[in-house]
Amino acid sequence: MTLRKIATLGLGVLLGTLLHAGAGFAATVTISCSATGHDLAMCTQGAEAWAKQTGNQVKVVSMPSTGQLALYQQLLSAGSSDIDVLQIDVVWPGILAQDLIDLSKYAGNKTAGDFPVYVKNATIGGRLVAMPWFADAGVMFYRKDLLEKYGVKVPDTWEALTAAAKKIQDAERAAGHAKMWGFVWQGRNYEGLTCDALEWVQSHNGGSIVDASGKVTIDNPGTVTALKMARGWVGTISPEGVLNYSEEEARGVFQSGDAVFMRNWPYAWSLANSNDSPVKGKVAIAVLPKGGEGGRHAAVLGGWQLAVSKYSKNADAAASLVMYLTSPAEQKRRAIEGGYASTIEALYKEQDVRDAIGPFADSLYDNLVNAVARPSAATKTRYNQVSTEFSGAVYAVLSGSTDAAVSVKNLDAKLRGLSRGGKW
Ligand code: GLC
Repeated sequence: MTLRKIATLGLGVLLGTLLHAGAGFAATVTISCSATGHDLAMCTQGAEAWAKQTGNQVKVVSMPSTGQLALYQQLLSAGSSDIDVLQIDVVWPGILAQDLIDLSKYAGNKTAGDFPVYVKNATIGGRLVAMPWFADAGVMFYRKDLLEKYGVKVPDTWEALTAAAKKIQDAERAAGHAKMWGFVWQGRNYEGLTCDALEWVQSHNGGSIVDASGKVTIDNPGTVTALKMARGWVGTISPEGVLNYSEEEARGVFQSGDAVFMRNWPYAWSLANSNDSPVKGKVAIAVLPKGGEGGRHAAVLGGWQLAVSKYSKNADAAASLVMYLTSPAEQKRRAIEGGYASTIEALYKEQDVRDAIGPFADSLYDNLVNAVARPSAATKTRYNQVSTEFSGAVYAVLSGSTDAAVSVKNLDAKLRGLSRGGKW
């Protein structure tokens, strides 16, 4: 045997020993994270902590703010192994399930403490295709200093909100704050508009587009009233530009001090109260208003989960990263440092979490447990088509191109066409 052969053999034995020692090869796991607010930074910190703890490597790629689903579908249909761990929206498990691994064997009883709604939502055909990561529900943020200044009560109905927003906006403008707006929200034609508009519709007792049995319910007077109301905001209490706002544009205006009310998700709380925020300490939250006295408060249920691609070449390491990021310890860090709403119920009772998110803790919890789901379970793999038709029909009303009643009728016909008699 030559020296070189002995050396090679030695290396082989050494590698073999390392491979058999516990975790085995260090893998490089690629995770896609959202880039809304501080999502990317928080995700990267968590992923890097996992890499350090396990001796693996992690690559973080940031998702575009719209069009992520199409991107995932493209990657997955090509069987690409480029992304191992996918951050997926609460409305996507049914659409992507066939390309995601079953995480049950890695999760064991780890989902026991999660809000059941999220676990049910991530379980498709008996397979746990994603782990709940953070919860979301629509929230009304408002400037408590300005409501106090003008002696305005926190509005309980949309009518009251419209009047309050107009009053304060006009008074502030008259006092020299020319850029002031009454109300900012998500008006771009995308999934975010589906969420906002479903809240308007629900709050007017107009249902949830398609009901749990699969029946299309959108064509009703509540929907028409809700959409007319929102159309009335554009150019009056909301800038024309709201038609191009997603979450971040709305937050930008509100956080700069140029809006009285904002509809957004919990993530905006800690950013609005960060040290460099012009509105730090001046913000409060409330439930979204009812549609008139006979209406109801409605917040849409959002949230994100982590899934492992079926085409991952490092499924074990990828699942380990998912379990780390969704663990109570990491969700707690994200709640304290980032104001994220945990999917683990017990964390809402822990004092350090409560101290960090202050008055937000209880209302956040209440809002979450009462939140309204989008019809993704009923419409299965067609949810995205339903949502796209819905937001398109709403957008046509908001932009003034179609009358509300006509747009709702057209939408109803389209959805019935898609519904295969309610079977989807
Ligand atoms: C938030 C929600 C998500 C929703 C999205 C819409 O990220 O968590 O469920 O689809 O906003 O923009």
